[in-house]
Amino acid sequence: MKPIRHYLSLMDVSAVELRQLVARAVQMKRGDATDATADLLRNQTAALVFEKSSTRTRMSFETGIAQLGGHAIFIAPADSHLARGEPVEDTARVLSRMARLIVMRTGAHERVQRMAEYATVPVINALSDFNHPCQMLADIQTYFEARGDLTGRRVAWVGDGNNVCHSWMNAARQLDFHLAIATPAGYAPDAEHAAACAAHIALGFEPAAAVADADLVVTDSWFSMGQEAEKAAREAAFAGFCVDQTLMARAADDALFMHCLPAYRGFEVAAEVIDGPQSVVWDQAENRLHAQKALMEFLLRR
Ligand code: CP
Ligand code: NVA
Repeated sequence: MKPIRHYLSLMDVSAVELRQLVARAVQMKRGDATDATADLLRNQTAALVFEKSSTRTRMSFETGIAQLGGHAIFIAPADSHLARGEPVEDTARVLSRMARLIVMRTGAHERVQRMAEYATVPVINALSDFNHPCQMLADIQTYFEARGDLTGRRVAWVGDGNNVCHSWMNAARQLDFHLAIATPAGYAPDAEHAAACAAHIALGFEPAAAVADADLVVTDSWFSMGQEAEKAAREAAFAGFCVDQTLMARAADDALFMHCLPAYRGFEVAAEVIDGPQSVVWDQAENRLHAQKALMEFLLRR
């Protein structure tokens, strides 16, 4: 039997596999793959262990699992023993005896790593404090559908050097495009990760410089889950980092705007941009479903 593959990072697949996954997601979206996938999870369950809130990720995984013929069991901290101190290692082994797949959203990245280490079924990272690789699959699919390949493109990240930014940095490596990152001082991406991605990224503090001639402008909330206590300090630090029409005008004429959502209009993005013609945020949200179905098929059909 082939070894189990987990998906904790965009780097867990090769560049070739990544392109195959995106192509398959596009095919599934068109409805071409229904017959081949409807029974993939028949009579089987997938455990969704979510230690943080979610709208899109939960909805897209539960919908996708149902469309693959399976049943999703949502395990929230309040209902499980994880929050009462049962080790992730024990949880991983118990869930693996019943579920065909584990999807985990958590804080510290090492928790999902430990889940994968002890699970005997594939584990998918549905967001950690470090990265958000499922979002990245959907975002790549969205760009490919709207504009074609990302290779050689210029992408600008404006805002917090957070988990979603870290996944965009991996995408730059995998697909060979340039990512200009503008953050306030003190909010840059993880230094070790930045060093690993150095050939494909530029770090700076000026949104206007980062978005110059960009093909795509991306941002995310200034306050990620778990940072609620930092809200006032962050709001002050991120002044000048709102992606508004003036900033978008510095990008290429046909530039797109992306945001993983949830969005806070008037903070990281102006309503005129997120609700305007360059925004593809609803396609990003929908593509979570298709991209994750392709991912589950990839991990399960081995
Ligand atoms: N973008 C995203 O992951 O959204 P949720 O937090 O609603 O799942
Ligand atoms: N950076 C955000 C992404 C939410 C999907 C967070 O971690 O809360």
